[in-house]
Amino acid sequence: MSETSPTVTAWEAAYLRFETCEEELRKFLRRLRKLGALTWPRDAQVVEIFCGRGNGLHALHHLGFTRVEGVDCSAALVARYSGPAKFVVADCRQLPFPDASRDIVIVQGGLHHLPELRADLEKVVSEVRRVLRPSGRFMVVEPWRTPFLRFVHWVGSFRLARRMWAKLDALETMTELEWVTYDQWLRQPEAVLRRLEGDFATERKCIGWGKLMWVGRRESD
Ligand SMILES: C[S@@+](CC[C@H](N)C(=O)[O-])C[C@H]1O[C@@H](n2cnc3c(N)ncnc32)[C@H](O)[C@@H]1O
Repeated sequence: MSETSPTVTAWEAAYLRFETCEEELRKFLRRLRKLGALTWPRDAQVVEIFCGRGNGLHALHHLGFTRVEGVDCSAALVARYSGPAKFVVADCRQLPFPDASRDIVIVQGGLHHLPELRADLEKVVSEVRRVLRPSGRFMVVEPWRTPFLRFVHWVGSFRLARRMWAKLDALETMTELEWVTYDQWLRQPEAVLRRLEGDFATERKCIGWGKLMWVGRRESD
């Protein structure tokens, strides 16, 4: 990065160490296929919120989506994206889009960063509902407290394991730095699902391997 590039925080540095862009792209492609993206119209207007360095946007292009936008509040991560999608630096609790103007909104690993979980989740979900057209889709992939996730963090509690496995060390560094929001997110699975399923009809839901993977359709007013 140039000297004028925005500063990368410790959390952003760990996130960048966690996976290479290629690994991340493969992960996003797997998720999108699993959640039915191959059946979605390729000219749909898709927004990925909390999109980080934008590899989710690359995955959408890879699958043939042509009208893709990303939103993230980190100017440092946004600066790393170079691709055809429009990228906006903004707070996802207040989306910079008109009502009923988009077909699909995606969030992957963003909601567990919200500081005031109940109030902020309410804001984000209401905003997603507002910007989606009727029957629009909301796709959510977030960490979920499953036996696998507990096991990973148990292994990560050993210094030797972290020293031997750089990816585990990056994951544990990220979770230490985001502990307050990560922990409050993992402790409230019922409240989270209730909020998502309050405004959206569940189309797909898979829970396993430390993740919630969910797609809902916007219900009519
Ligand atoms: C774990 S990263 C996920 C990035 C990407 N979706 C991924 O899966 O790799 C969380 C992202 O949320 C962004 N973020 C956190 N709070 C935000 C907010 N209120 N509005 C917009 N972006 C936010 C951070 O800058 C970060 O890029």
